[in-house]
Amino acid sequence: MGEALRVGVAGLGTVGASVIRMLETQSQALAARSGRAVRVTGVSARDRTKDRGVDIAGARFHEDPVELAASPDIDLFVELIGGDEGPARQAVEAALDARKSVVTANKALLAKHGLALAALAEAHGVALAFEASVAGGIPIVKTLREGLAGNSIERVYGILNGTCNYILSRMETENMPFDVCLKEAQNLGYAEADPTFDIGGFDTAHKLAILASLAFGTKIAADKIDVEGIERITLADLRAADELGYRIKLLGVAQRTEHGIEQRVHPTMVPKSSAIAQVMGVTNAVTIDADAVHELTLVGPGAGGAATASAVVADISDIAKGVRSAPFGLPCAALATPTRGEMQRHEGGYYIRLSVHDRPGAMAAIAARVAERGISLESIVQRARRGDSKGGPVPVVLITYATTERLVREALDAIAAGGLVAERPQMIRIERE
Ligand code: HSE
Repeated sequence: MGEALRVGVAGLGTVGASVIRMLETQSQALAARSGRAVRVTGVSARDRTKDRGVDIAGARFHEDPVELAASPDIDLFVELIGGDEGPARQAVEAALDARKSVVTANKALLAKHGLALAALAEAHGVALAFEASVAGGIPIVKTLREGLAGNSIERVYGILNGTCNYILSRMETENMPFDVCLKEAQNLGYAEADPTFDIGGFDTAHKLAILASLAFGTKIAADKIDVEGIERITLADLRAADELGYRIKLLGVAQRTEHGIEQRVHPTMVPKSSAIAQVMGVTNAVTIDADAVHELTLVGPGAGGAATASAVVADISDIAKGVRSAPFGLPCAALATPTRGEMQRHEGGYYIRLSVHDRPGAMAAIAARVAERGISLESIVQRARRGDSKGGPVPVVLITYATTERLVREALDAIAAGGLVAERPQMIRIERE
Protein backbone atom coordinates (compact mmCIF):
# COMPACT_ATOMS: atom_id res chain seq x y z
CA MET A 1 0.00 0.00 0.00
CA GLY A 2 1.33 3.46 -0.95
CA GLU A 3 1.75 6.50 1.26
CA ALA A 4 -1.43 8.00 2.70
CA LEU A 5 -3.09 10.79 0.71
CA ARG A 6 -3.21 13.89 2.94
CA VAL A 7 -6.41 15.88 2.49
CA GLY A 8 -7.23 19.45 3.49
CA VAL A 9 -10.91 20.38 3.75
CA ALA A 10 -12.00 24.03 3.62
CA GLY A 11 -15.61 24.67 4.62
CA LEU A 12 -17.08 22.58 7.41
CA GLY A 13 -20.79 23.09 6.83
CA THR A 14 -23.21 20.21 6.28
CA VAL A 15 -21.26 18.86 3.31
CA GLY A 16 -17.79 19.36 4.82
CA ALA A 17 -18.76 17.56 8.03
CA SER A 18 -20.33 14.74 6.00
CA VAL A 19 -17.13 14.35 3.94
CA ILE A 20 -15.02 14.04 7.09
CA ARG A 21 -17.49 11.53 8.54
CA MET A 22 -17.53 9.46 5.35
CA LEU A 23 -13.73 9.42 5.06
CA GLU A 24 -13.67 8.09 8.62
CA THR A 25 -16.46 5.51 8.41
CA GLN A 26 -15.36 4.25 4.97
CA SER A 27 -11.62 4.48 5.67
CA GLN A 28 -10.87 0.77 5.25
CA ALA A 29 -12.91 0.30 2.12
CA LEU A 30 -11.48 3.49 0.60
CA ALA A 31 -7.91 2.42 1.36
CA ALA A 32 -8.58 -0.97 -0.25
CA ARG A 33 -10.19 0.62 -3.33
CA SER A 34 -7.60 3.37 -3.72
CA GLY A 35 -4.50 1.38 -2.80
CA ARG A 36 -3.61 3.88 -0.10
CA ALA A 37 -5.10 5.40 3.05
CA VAL A 38 -6.82 8.78 2.93
CA ARG A 39 -6.27 11.03 5.95
CA VAL A 40 -7.66 14.49 6.73
CA THR A 41 -4.59 16.44 7.87
CA GLY A 42 -5.88 20.02 7.62
CA VAL A 43 -9.18 21.87 7.92
CA SER A 44 -10.40 25.44 7.66
CA ALA A 45 -13.71 26.96 8.70
CA ARG A 46 -15.10 30.26 9.92
CA ASP A 47 -15.74 28.99 13.46
CA ARG A 48 -13.07 26.84 15.06
CA THR A 49 -15.06 25.85 18.12
CA LYS A 50 -18.43 24.83 16.66
CA ASP A 51 -19.50 21.23 17.39
CA ARG A 52 -20.04 19.57 14.00
CA GLY A 53 -20.42 16.04 15.32
CA VAL A 54 -17.15 14.93 13.69
CA ASP A 55 -13.66 14.51 15.08
CA ILE A 56 -11.22 17.02 13.60
CA ALA A 57 -8.76 16.87 16.48
CA GLY A 58 -6.17 15.07 14.33
CA ALA A 59 -6.19 17.78 11.66
CA ARG A 60 -4.38 21.10 11.80
CA PHE A 61 -6.78 24.04 11.88
CA HIS A 62 -6.12 26.96 9.51
CA GLU A 63 -7.96 30.27 9.94
CA ASP A 64 -7.20 31.07 6.32
CA PRO A 65 -8.34 28.59 3.62
CA VAL A 66 -5.74 29.99 1.21
CA GLU A 67 -3.01 29.10 3.68
CA LEU A 68 -4.45 25.58 4.01
CA ALA A 69 -4.59 25.25 0.22
CA ALA A 70 -0.88 25.94 -0.16
CA SER A 71 0.18 24.11 3.02
CA PRO A 72 2.94 21.48 2.67
CA ASP A 73 0.86 19.27 5.04
CA ILE A 74 -1.66 18.36 2.34
CA ASP A 75 -1.58 16.68 -1.09
CA LEU A 76 -5.21 17.37 -2.03
CA PHE A 77 -7.40 20.40 -1.33
CA VAL A 78 -11.19 20.05 -0.96
CA GLU A 79 -13.03 23.33 -1.48
CA LEU A 80 -16.50 23.46 0.12
CA ILE A 81 -16.62 27.19 0.84
CA GLY A 82 -18.85 28.30 -2.05
CA GLY A 83 -19.08 31.52 -4.05
CA ASP A 84 -17.58 32.36 -7.42
CA GLU A 85 -14.93 34.79 -6.12
CA GLY A 86 -13.26 35.58 -2.79
CA PRO A 87 -11.75 32.88 -0.60
CA ALA A 88 -13.06 29.96 -2.67
CA ARG A 89 -11.43 31.14 -5.90
CA GLN A 90 -8.24 32.30 -4.17
CA ALA A 91 -7.86 29.01 -2.29
CA VAL A 92 -8.46 26.83 -5.37
CA GLU A 93 -5.95 28.86 -7.39
CA ALA A 94 -3.44 28.70 -4.53
CA ALA A 95 -3.79 24.91 -4.31
CA LEU A 96 -3.37 24.41 -8.07
CA ASP A 97 -0.39 26.80 -8.13
CA ALA A 98 1.13 24.72 -5.33
CA ARG A 99 0.66 21.61 -7.52
CA LYS A 100 -2.06 20.09 -5.38
CA SER A 101 -5.12 18.42 -6.84
CA VAL A 102 -8.45 20.05 -6.05
CA VAL A 103 -11.91 18.61 -5.41
CA THR A 104 -14.74 21.13 -5.34
CA ALA A 105 -18.55 21.18 -5.16
CA ASN A 106 -18.61 24.80 -6.27
CA LYS A 107 -20.80 25.10 -9.38
CA ALA A 108 -20.76 28.91 -9.41
CA LEU A 109 -16.95 28.99 -9.37
CA LEU A 110 -16.73 26.43 -12.16
CA ALA A 111 -19.38 28.12 -14.29
CA LYS A 112 -17.45 31.39 -14.14
CA HIS A 113 -13.81 30.31 -13.98
CA GLY A 114 -13.88 26.59 -14.87
CA LEU A 115 -11.86 26.92 -18.06
CA ALA A 116 -9.09 28.99 -16.44
CA LEU A 117 -8.94 26.65 -13.44
CA ALA A 118 -8.84 23.58 -15.71
CA ALA A 119 -5.96 25.19 -17.65
CA LEU A 120 -4.12 25.83 -14.39
CA ALA A 121 -4.62 22.21 -13.27
CA GLU A 122 -3.45 20.98 -16.67
CA ALA A 123 -0.35 23.21 -16.61
CA HIS A 124 0.64 21.78 -13.22
CA GLY A 125 -0.28 18.17 -14.01
CA VAL A 126 -2.82 17.90 -11.18
CA ALA A 127 -6.52 17.01 -11.02
CA LEU A 128 -9.48 19.36 -10.79
CA ALA A 129 -12.51 17.23 -9.91
CA PHE A 130 -16.07 18.43 -9.39
CA GLU A 131 -18.54 15.53 -9.36
CA ALA A 132 -20.43 17.14 -6.47
CA SER A 133 -21.03 20.39 -8.34
CA VAL A 134 -23.90 19.00 -10.46
CA ALA A 135 -26.87 17.00 -9.20
CA GLY A 136 -25.34 16.13 -5.79
CA GLY A 137 -25.04 12.38 -5.41
CA ILE A 138 -25.76 11.49 -9.08
CA PRO A 139 -22.44 10.57 -10.76
CA ILE A 140 -23.27 12.57 -13.88
CA VAL A 141 -19.83 14.12 -14.46
CA LYS A 142 -18.15 10.72 -14.63
CA THR A 143 -21.00 9.35 -16.74
CA LEU A 144 -20.58 12.08 -19.36
CA ARG A 145 -16.80 12.26 -19.26
CA GLU A 146 -15.91 8.58 -19.07
CA GLY A 147 -18.96 6.34 -19.23
CA LEU A 148 -20.23 7.75 -22.54
CA ALA A 149 -16.85 8.39 -24.17
CA GLY A 150 -17.88 6.28 -27.18
CA ASN A 151 -21.06 8.24 -27.82
CA SER A 152 -21.96 11.39 -29.68
CA ILE A 153 -24.31 13.32 -27.42
CA GLU A 154 -27.23 15.24 -28.91
CA ARG A 155 -28.96 16.57 -25.82
CA VAL A 156 -28.57 16.54 -22.08
CA TYR A 157 -31.34 17.87 -19.87
CA GLY A 158 -32.53 17.57 -16.37
CA ILE A 159 -33.99 18.65 -13.10
CA LEU A 160 -30.90 20.16 -11.55
CA ASN A 161 -32.37 22.19 -8.71
CA GLY A 162 -34.10 20.37 -5.86
CA THR A 163 -35.67 23.52 -4.46
CA CYS A 164 -37.55 24.31 -7.67
CA ASN A 165 -38.66 20.72 -8.12
CA TYR A 166 -39.83 20.63 -4.52
CA ILE A 167 -41.85 23.84 -4.98
CA LEU A 168 -43.46 22.72 -8.25
CA SER A 169 -44.24 19.27 -6.83
CA ARG A 170 -45.85 20.72 -3.70
CA MET A 171 -47.85 23.26 -5.69
CA GLU A 172 -49.15 20.46 -7.89
CA THR A 173 -49.90 17.81 -5.28
CA GLU A 174 -51.03 20.04 -2.38
CA ASN A 175 -52.60 22.84 -4.44
CA MET A 176 -50.58 25.36 -2.43
CA PRO A 177 -49.36 28.72 -3.80
CA PHE A 178 -45.76 29.38 -4.80
CA ASP A 179 -44.80 31.55 -1.78
CA VAL A 180 -45.95 28.97 0.78
CA CYS A 181 -44.02 26.17 -0.97
CA LEU A 182 -40.86 28.32 -1.20
CA LYS A 183 -41.03 29.01 2.54
CA GLU A 184 -41.32 25.26 3.18
CA ALA A 185 -38.28 24.56 1.00
CA GLN A 186 -36.28 27.19 2.87
CA ASN A 187 -37.33 25.77 6.24
CA LEU A 188 -36.22 22.32 5.10
CA GLY A 189 -32.79 23.72 4.18
CA TYR A 190 -32.97 22.97 0.44
CA ALA A 191 -32.67 26.52 -0.87
CA GLU A 192 -29.47 28.49 -1.46
CA ALA A 193 -28.69 31.31 1.02
CA ASP A 194 -30.25 33.65 -1.55
CA PRO A 195 -33.27 31.69 -2.89
CA THR A 196 -33.43 33.81 -6.06
CA PHE A 197 -30.46 31.69 -7.18
CA ASP A 198 -32.79 28.67 -7.08
CA ILE A 199 -36.12 30.05 -8.23
CA GLY A 200 -34.60 32.41 -10.81
CA GLY A 201 -32.93 29.43 -12.52
CA PHE A 202 -29.33 30.61 -11.96
CA ASP A 203 -28.26 27.58 -9.88
CA THR A 204 -29.60 25.33 -12.67
CA ALA A 205 -27.73 27.46 -15.24
CA HIS A 206 -24.40 27.00 -13.45
CA LYS A 207 -24.89 23.24 -13.43
CA LEU A 208 -26.07 23.19 -17.05
CA ALA A 209 -22.95 25.08 -18.19
CA ILE A 210 -20.80 22.32 -16.68
CA LEU A 211 -22.88 19.53 -18.25
CA ALA A 212 -22.86 21.19 -21.69
CA SER A 213 -19.07 21.49 -21.69
CA LEU A 214 -18.70 17.81 -20.76
CA ALA A 215 -21.35 16.63 -23.22
CA PHE A 216 -20.16 18.59 -26.26
CA GLY A 217 -16.44 19.06 -25.64
CA THR A 218 -16.87 22.83 -25.60
CA LYS A 219 -15.48 25.65 -23.48
CA ILE A 220 -17.77 26.35 -20.58
CA ALA A 221 -20.13 29.19 -21.60
CA ALA A 222 -22.33 30.18 -18.68
CA ASP A 223 -22.88 33.59 -20.26
CA LYS A 224 -24.57 31.98 -23.27
CA ILE A 225 -27.52 30.47 -21.41
CA ASP A 226 -31.11 31.70 -21.75
CA VAL A 227 -32.51 31.64 -18.21
CA GLU A 228 -36.10 31.90 -16.95
CA GLY A 229 -37.14 30.97 -13.43
CA ILE A 230 -40.33 29.55 -11.97
CA GLU A 231 -41.63 32.74 -10.33
CA ARG A 232 -44.48 33.22 -12.84
CA ILE A 233 -45.81 29.64 -12.66
CA THR A 234 -49.29 29.62 -11.16
CA LEU A 235 -51.65 26.97 -9.90
CA ALA A 236 -53.73 27.66 -13.05
CA ASP A 237 -50.74 26.56 -15.18
CA LEU A 238 -50.22 23.40 -13.14
CA ARG A 239 -53.93 22.52 -13.38
CA ALA A 240 -54.01 23.16 -17.13
CA ALA A 241 -50.86 21.09 -17.59
CA ASP A 242 -52.42 18.24 -15.63
CA GLU A 243 -55.60 18.28 -17.73
CA LEU A 244 -53.57 18.22 -20.95
CA GLY A 245 -51.35 15.32 -19.81
CA TYR A 246 -48.24 17.28 -18.78
CA ARG A 247 -46.27 18.24 -15.68
CA ILE A 248 -44.26 21.43 -15.28
CA LYS A 249 -40.60 21.10 -14.32
CA LEU A 250 -37.74 23.58 -14.25
CA LEU A 251 -35.33 22.02 -16.74
CA GLY A 252 -31.84 22.87 -17.82
CA VAL A 253 -31.47 21.77 -21.45
CA ALA A 254 -28.32 21.72 -23.59
CA GLN A 255 -28.95 20.62 -27.15
CA ARG A 256 -27.06 20.51 -30.44
CA THR A 257 -29.07 22.14 -33.22
CA GLU A 258 -28.21 23.07 -36.79
CA HIS A 259 -27.82 26.67 -35.59
CA GLY A 260 -25.49 25.94 -32.68
CA ILE A 261 -25.74 24.71 -29.11
CA GLU A 262 -28.87 25.77 -27.26
CA GLN A 263 -28.37 26.17 -23.53
CA ARG A 264 -31.63 27.05 -21.85
CA VAL A 265 -33.17 27.00 -18.40
CA HIS A 266 -36.91 27.47 -18.16
CA PRO A 267 -40.11 26.01 -16.77
CA THR A 268 -40.99 23.18 -19.14
CA MET A 269 -44.04 21.06 -19.87
CA VAL A 270 -43.03 17.40 -19.99
CA PRO A 271 -45.44 14.57 -20.90
CA LYS A 272 -46.68 12.85 -17.73
CA SER A 273 -45.54 9.52 -19.17
CA SER A 274 -41.88 10.64 -19.45
CA ALA A 275 -39.23 9.47 -16.99
CA ILE A 276 -38.41 13.02 -15.95
CA ALA A 277 -42.06 13.75 -15.11
CA GLN A 278 -42.02 11.07 -12.42
CA VAL A 279 -39.28 12.88 -10.48
CA MET A 280 -40.94 14.68 -7.59
CA GLY A 281 -39.76 16.62 -4.57
CA VAL A 282 -36.14 17.54 -3.99
CA THR A 283 -34.84 14.71 -6.20
CA ASN A 284 -32.74 15.53 -9.29
CA ALA A 285 -32.65 13.74 -12.66
CA VAL A 286 -30.55 14.00 -15.79
CA THR A 287 -31.42 12.52 -19.19
CA ILE A 288 -28.83 12.10 -21.94
CA ASP A 289 -29.71 11.48 -25.59
CA ALA A 290 -26.73 9.87 -27.28
CA ASP A 291 -26.30 7.86 -30.47
CA ALA A 292 -25.29 4.53 -28.96
CA VAL A 293 -27.23 4.42 -25.69
CA HIS A 294 -30.19 6.44 -27.10
CA GLU A 295 -31.71 7.63 -23.86
CA LEU A 296 -30.22 7.33 -20.40
CA THR A 297 -31.79 8.81 -17.26
CA LEU A 298 -30.08 9.04 -13.90
CA VAL A 299 -32.25 9.91 -10.89
CA GLY A 300 -31.12 10.62 -7.35
CA PRO A 301 -30.54 13.05 -4.51
CA GLY A 302 -29.36 16.44 -5.76
CA ALA A 303 -28.41 17.95 -2.43
CA GLY A 304 -27.86 17.13 1.22
CA GLY A 305 -24.77 16.30 3.25
CA ALA A 306 -24.38 12.57 2.70
CA ALA A 307 -25.35 12.59 -1.00
CA THR A 308 -23.00 15.45 -1.84
CA ALA A 309 -20.22 13.91 0.28
CA SER A 310 -20.67 10.71 -1.73
CA ALA A 311 -19.61 12.62 -4.87
CA VAL A 312 -16.76 14.46 -3.13
CA VAL A 313 -15.37 11.23 -1.68
CA ALA A 314 -15.57 9.47 -5.06
CA ASP A 315 -13.38 12.22 -6.51
CA ILE A 316 -10.94 11.93 -3.59
CA SER A 317 -10.74 8.17 -4.16
CA ASP A 318 -9.99 8.65 -7.88
CA ILE A 319 -7.20 11.10 -7.09
CA ALA A 320 -5.81 8.73 -4.45
CA LYS A 321 -5.65 6.07 -7.19
CA GLY A 322 -3.73 8.44 -9.44
CA VAL A 323 -6.54 9.31 -11.88
CA ARG A 324 -5.90 12.69 -13.58
CA SER A 325 -8.75 13.07 -16.08
CA ALA A 326 -8.90 16.28 -18.11
CA PRO A 327 -11.49 18.24 -16.09
CA PHE A 328 -13.87 18.78 -19.02
CA GLY A 329 -13.00 15.56 -20.81
CA LEU A 330 -10.51 17.05 -23.30
CA PRO A 331 -7.25 19.00 -23.00
CA CYS A 332 -8.21 22.67 -22.64
CA ALA A 333 -6.75 23.59 -26.05
CA ALA A 334 -9.01 20.98 -27.69
CA LEU A 335 -12.25 22.34 -26.19
CA ALA A 336 -14.23 24.07 -28.95
CA THR A 337 -15.74 27.53 -28.64
CA PRO A 338 -19.50 26.89 -28.78
CA THR A 339 -21.77 28.70 -31.22
CA ARG A 340 -24.87 29.82 -29.37
CA GLY A 341 -28.14 28.37 -30.65
CA GLU A 342 -30.30 31.49 -30.38
CA MET A 343 -33.52 31.12 -28.41
CA GLN A 344 -35.51 32.89 -31.15
CA ARG A 345 -34.72 29.92 -33.42
CA HIS A 346 -35.65 27.28 -30.82
CA GLU A 347 -38.08 24.79 -32.29
CA GLY A 348 -40.67 22.98 -30.22
CA GLY A 349 -44.24 22.91 -29.01
CA TYR A 350 -45.59 25.69 -26.80
CA TYR A 351 -48.22 26.02 -24.10
CA ILE A 352 -49.89 29.43 -24.09
CA ARG A 353 -52.33 30.61 -21.43
CA LEU A 354 -54.30 33.75 -22.20
CA SER A 355 -56.76 35.77 -20.21
CA VAL A 356 -59.12 36.73 -23.04
CA HIS A 357 -61.72 39.50 -23.04
CA ASP A 358 -65.00 37.64 -23.39
CA ARG A 359 -66.59 39.14 -26.51
CA PRO A 360 -67.67 37.86 -29.93
CA GLY A 361 -64.82 37.28 -32.34
CA ALA A 362 -62.05 37.29 -29.73
CA MET A 363 -61.24 33.61 -30.20
CA ALA A 364 -61.39 33.93 -34.00
CA ALA A 365 -58.98 36.89 -33.86
CA ILE A 366 -56.56 34.93 -31.65
CA ALA A 367 -56.72 31.93 -33.97
CA ALA A 368 -56.06 34.28 -36.93
CA ARG A 369 -52.95 35.85 -35.29
CA VAL A 370 -51.60 32.35 -34.72
CA ALA A 371 -52.53 30.96 -38.15
CA GLU A 372 -51.04 33.99 -39.97
CA ARG A 373 -47.65 32.83 -38.74
CA GLY A 374 -48.15 29.26 -39.85
CA ILE A 375 -48.46 27.99 -36.29
CA SER A 376 -50.63 24.89 -36.06
CA LEU A 377 -52.61 24.23 -32.88
CA GLU A 378 -52.72 20.82 -31.23
CA SER A 379 -55.40 21.78 -28.72
CA ILE A 380 -57.50 24.73 -27.57
CA VAL A 381 -59.30 24.85 -24.23
CA GLN A 382 -61.60 27.70 -23.29
CA ARG A 383 -63.27 27.74 -19.90
CA ALA A 384 -66.73 29.22 -19.39
CA ARG A 385 -66.72 32.47 -17.45
CA ARG A 386 -67.79 32.30 -13.85
CA GLY A 387 -71.41 33.28 -13.17
CA ASP A 388 -70.51 36.54 -11.45
CA SER A 389 -67.94 37.82 -13.93
CA LYS A 390 -70.01 38.85 -16.97
CA GLY A 391 -67.78 40.67 -19.45
CA GLY A 392 -64.65 39.74 -17.49
CA PRO A 393 -61.76 37.80 -19.02
CA VAL A 394 -61.91 34.03 -19.55
CA PRO A 395 -58.95 31.63 -19.50
CA VAL A 396 -57.89 30.15 -22.84
CA VAL A 397 -55.12 27.58 -23.17
CA LEU A 398 -53.48 26.78 -26.51
CA ILE A 399 -50.99 23.99 -27.21
CA THR A 400 -49.06 24.38 -30.46
CA TYR A 401 -47.38 21.80 -32.65
CA ALA A 402 -43.69 22.36 -33.24
CA THR A 403 -42.92 25.92 -34.27
CA THR A 404 -40.25 28.50 -33.47
CA GLU A 405 -39.90 30.82 -30.50
CA ARG A 406 -39.77 33.84 -32.82
CA LEU A 407 -43.15 33.04 -34.37
CA VAL A 408 -44.79 32.37 -31.00
CA ARG A 409 -43.49 35.65 -29.60
CA GLU A 410 -44.67 37.54 -32.68
CA ALA A 411 -48.14 35.99 -32.37
CA LEU A 412 -48.36 36.88 -28.67
CA ASP A 413 -47.26 40.46 -29.37
CA ALA A 414 -49.94 40.75 -32.06
CA ILE A 415 -52.60 39.33 -29.71
CA ALA A 416 -51.61 41.83 -27.00
CA ALA A 417 -51.48 44.73 -29.49
CA GLY A 418 -54.99 43.83 -30.66
CA GLY A 419 -56.36 44.43 -27.14
CA LEU A 420 -57.59 40.84 -26.96
CA VAL A 421 -56.13 39.92 -23.57
CA ALA A 422 -56.40 41.33 -20.06
CA GLU A 423 -52.93 40.37 -18.83
CA ARG A 424 -49.48 39.31 -20.02
CA PRO A 425 -49.76 35.90 -21.71
CA GLN A 426 -48.09 32.91 -20.09
CA MET A 427 -45.85 30.87 -22.41
CA ILE A 428 -44.20 27.57 -21.43
CA ARG A 429 -42.04 25.48 -23.75
CA ILE A 430 -42.81 21.78 -24.22
CA GLU A 431 -39.91 19.29 -24.18
CA ARG A 432 -40.47 15.87 -25.69
CA GLU A 433 -38.51 12.69 -25.04
N1 HSE B 1 -30.08 24.78 -3.75
C1 HSE B 1 -29.62 23.65 -4.49
C2 HSE B 1 -30.85 22.84 -4.87
C3 HSE B 1 -28.67 22.82 -3.67
O1 HSE B 1 -31.95 23.17 -4.44
O2 HSE B 1 -30.73 21.91 -5.64
C4 HSE B 1 -27.82 21.90 -4.47
O3 HSE B 1 -27.05 22.55 -5.43
